[in-house]
Amino acid sequence: MAAGQWKRIIIAASMLGIAAISSASIGRAGTGSVHPGPMSRADAFARAQALTALGRKMFFDPSLSASGKQACSSCHDPHHAFGPASAAPVEMGGPKLDQPGLRAVPSLRYLQAAPAFTEHFHDSEDEGDESVDNGPTGGLTWDGRVDRGKDQAKIPLLSPFEMANKDAAAVTAALRKAAYAGAFKAAFGDQVFDHPDDAFDAAAEALGTFEQSAADFYPYSSRYDVFLAGKARLTAQELRGRALFEDETKGNCASCHLSQPANDGEPPQFTDYGLIAVAVPRNPAISANADPAYFDLGLCGPLRTDFHGRADYCGLFKTPTLRNVALRKSFFHNGYFHTLRDAVAFYASRDSDPGRWYPKYADGTVREYDDLPKAYWPNLNQDPPFGRKPGDRPALTDPEIDAIVAFLQTLTDADQQAEAVPAN
Ligand code: HEC
Ligand code: HEC
Repeated sequence: MAAGQWKRIIIAASMLGIAAISSASIGRAGTGSVHPGPMSRADAFARAQALTALGRKMFFDPSLSASGKQACSSCHDPHHAFGPASAAPVEMGGPKLDQPGLRAVPSLRYLQAAPAFTEHFHDSEDEGDESVDNGPTGGLTWDGRVDRGKDQAKIPLLSPFEMANKDAAAVTAALRKAAYAGAFKAAFGDQVFDHPDDAFDAAAEALGTFEQSAADFYPYSSRYDVFLAGKARLTAQELRGRALFEDETKGNCASCHLSQPANDGEPPQFTDYGLIAVAVPRNPAISANADPAYFDLGLCGPLRTDFHGRADYCGLFKTPTLRNVALRKSFFHNGYFHTLRDAVAFYASRDSDPGRWYPKYADGTVREYDDLPKAYWPNLNQDPPFGRKPGDRPALTDPEIDAIVAFLQTLTDADQQAEAVPAN
């Protein structure tokens, strides 16, 4: 295995739940304790494998939900890069599967290198200048409110509009009855089900460990990866799309959705994990938005609670990877757009032709940035392709938008190709 690959696995391990493979803090395989002591590398590896197998079973197990009908995989479909199979902007959950969600379901691929959330991110690869503060960056979910897979997994298990378990005891009761209950005890101890909080932690750890499985979650098998390895060609249109994606005066997409391998040869993740205000139009298809006073403001809340009142953080959402984005049928945190072409075209003319994207008041004037109260407009990103004046030419022509879409379609992993849907 190449050194870079090891590094990736260790980064993945530390981000998504288990301690680094060589570290002392994970349990000895098979000793069956929830908080086992030091162990050798080989034992740690065996334990990671056991937890991966367990986590995989749990991920696909609908009995872990109050409805008995919803597994993690119901929303995070492995045939859609662990994103949603449906075109709905949000999924239904809850005990009767009638409670609508608040946000679009993200893909779970390529999360392994996401840094822990920080308000001040200094990137050592940022043109060699570590003094640049890139602002709020990292974490999981659209607002970065948890750092690791094992912490994140607890959210859907208990969320009233997702798997809707009442508490840790309800999850534990389901685990006790599961076909893999024996394997669960073998990994975490015979008494584990007697202590629901421990069992709940253990379940989350197994799910977080599964999310580090490279073959499932970061195969780097897209045509673009093969191209970067010098083993495939891109069409003239795809190459043109890449150039526009990277050109700072045109798409400028790569300033956030990094498209070049890192200095150490790590393949590009197509995100810098930054939290940014893009001002996607308000989505009336989300039921919570029926209340005109409700706004999903991302980093400043309401789902995230530690930055309530931080006006400068309102409207900021995490930059998602664009790997496998062509598989999606709803785009952005609120799932407002339903074609990749519209998602890209929105960038090109958000400011030059706002009337194309935002609704109008009764008098015909455009309600621009209608999902972000005016007090927070200073937070809007105004770098290219944004920052034009109404009536200016759009940042990208129609053929240029088509070329970028064609380039984005090269980012679909090989095992997902058969599922690819046309961009429009
Ligand atoms: C009802 C649909 C639904 C179910 C079921 C569900 N999720 Fe999610 N998942 C979501 C949504 C929506 C988000 C985004 C939440 C947010 O930003 O607040 C998300 C986010 C995530 C993230 C963070 C992704 C990122 O881009 O940062 C992870 C990891 C995750 N889910 C894992 C799981 C696991 C593990 C389970 C099962 C225990 C699960 N999910 C069950 C809908 C679901
Ligand atoms: C300043 C940083 C930034 C730039 C520049 C940028 N993006 Fe994004 N991108 C984001 C953020 C942040 C989101 C999520 C915003 C949200 O959901 O509210 C996003 C979301 C997306 C999505 C939706 C992905 C999904 O999973 O739903 C697509 C598609 C996309 N960007 C494509 C592009 C393209 C193409 C360009 C260039 C024309 C571009 N982006 C330029 C930050 C950026």
